[in-house]
Amino acid sequence: MRIALLGGSGDIGEGLALRFGRDTSHDIVIGSREPEKAREAAESYEAELDDRGVDAKLTGFENEMAADRADVVVLAVPPYHVADTVDSVADSLGEDDIIVSPATGMQRDEEGFHYHRPEAGSVTALAAGAAPDSVPVGSPISMPSSESTHWSSARTRPPRRPSAASRRISTGCAHSTLAGSPTRRKSSR
Ligand SMILES: NC(=O)c1ccc[n+]([C@@H]2O[C@H](COP(=O)([O-])OP(=O)(O)OC[C@H]3O[C@@H](n4cnc5c(N)ncnc54)[C@H](OP(=O)(O)O)[C@@H]3O)[C@@H](O)[C@H]2O)c1
Repeated sequence: MRIALLGGSGDIGEGLALRFGRDTSHDIVIGSREPEKAREAAESYEAELDDRGVDAKLTGFENEMAADRADVVVLAVPPYHVADTVDSVADSLGEDDIIVSPATGMQRDEEGFHYHRPEAGSVTALAAGAAPDSVPVGSPISMPSSESTHWSSARTRPPRRPSAASRRISTGCAHSTLAGSPTRRKSSR
């Protein structure tokens, strides 16, 4: 399966890329608004994995091209830009694609973290509002009484059970540092 991390140049994108690269055999595509930034990020993640004995091939493209190449599209962008980001790649999404949004409406200031619920109900619902009706949008995160684990009906359809492929994806809380031993060792891919 091919997974595109839109905004994969950022913190959670890096954490997810390193974990998917280390723990799965999926193809990882880094997306960015700037193709050069995407390529540089993909190279640096590959180098970090290589340092740890993991042979993973990552590629980098502008977000729309990354989405075009993917089966699963992860919105690793700031929460209130998920809808714009979905809009910008909508023409590249196919009927069998799945969008995953790890974004939450959390903001941080000097007093700490605050949750801002969007009018749509959740950031995932914002993303679903921008996605084509045929593309399911899901969130693997769970926050009590706020951004619950959510598989969107994308406005017109009843909630769809996530496919086996999407159920295999778990982000947890992605930090960029890889802990523990790599589980996927170098092979001659
Ligand atoms: N569920 C969890 O456990 C968890 C944990 C942490 C974060 N998150 C969520 O993950 C998301 C990303 O967090 P992050 O800390 O990785 O964010 P970030 O580093 O601030 O941004 C990620 C990327 O988004 C792109 N971006 C920035 N501004 C944008 C805009 N206006 N429009 C489109 N793309 C833009 C940038 O990529 P380019 O410049 O390369 O395009 C940037 O590298 C957030 O929504 C956050 O809520 C979830």
